[in-house]
Amino acid sequence: MNNKNVLRALLAAGVFGMAGLVLAHGDVTPQKVETTGLPDLGDEWLDENPFRGDSEYHDRAVEIGASAYNQNCARCHGLEAISGGIAPDLRMLEPTIDGDDWFKERVINGAVRDGAVYMPRMADYLSQEALWAIRTYIESVAPQE
Ligand code: HEC
Repeated sequence: MNNKNVLRALLAAGVFGMAGLVLAHGDVTPQKVETTGLPDLGDEWLDENPFRGDSEYHDRAVEIGASAYNQNCARCHGLEAISGGIAPDLRMLEPTIDGDDWFKERVINGAVRDGAVYMPRMADYLSQEALWAIRTYIESVAPQE
């Protein structure tokens, strides 16, 4: 290889290396979330978001959820929950127990098809309190009907 070809090979490797980083979302380790100020919900998953509406914990949940969302979900679901198209726009989930059901199903089971991890099982890394806080944050930025 002459120098030019070596340079080309290096450039190509660099470019593909970057693409690999961007695409290999599934490998990114979720960040632990501090949930001080929220009540302990126990190990058993609730059916409905306990921080919704006029819950006394609503505002604290939005605050914790915003930072937890940005650290753990935004890279796929978009900053401020506005999807860039890589993953579904979470603002579209209904702010009801039906939406909660699907939210829960996904964060517990993730999305794995043919051995490829499209979304990690977030509940393996984040607490129920943190995940409901994220859900509360998403609801707070969803367009109101
Ligand atoms: C590595 C990328 C990635 C990360 C990180 C990620 N997700 Fe996802 N998520 C996806 C993909 C891709 C889908 C669509 C899965 C499918 O089509 O089966 C999805 C689907 C979902 C759904 C179902 C949405 C719908 O409309 O069907 C929910 C709810 C969800 N994610 C919540 C979260 C939350 C909350 C977090 C952060 C705690 C998170 N996700 C982090 C990639 C990700």
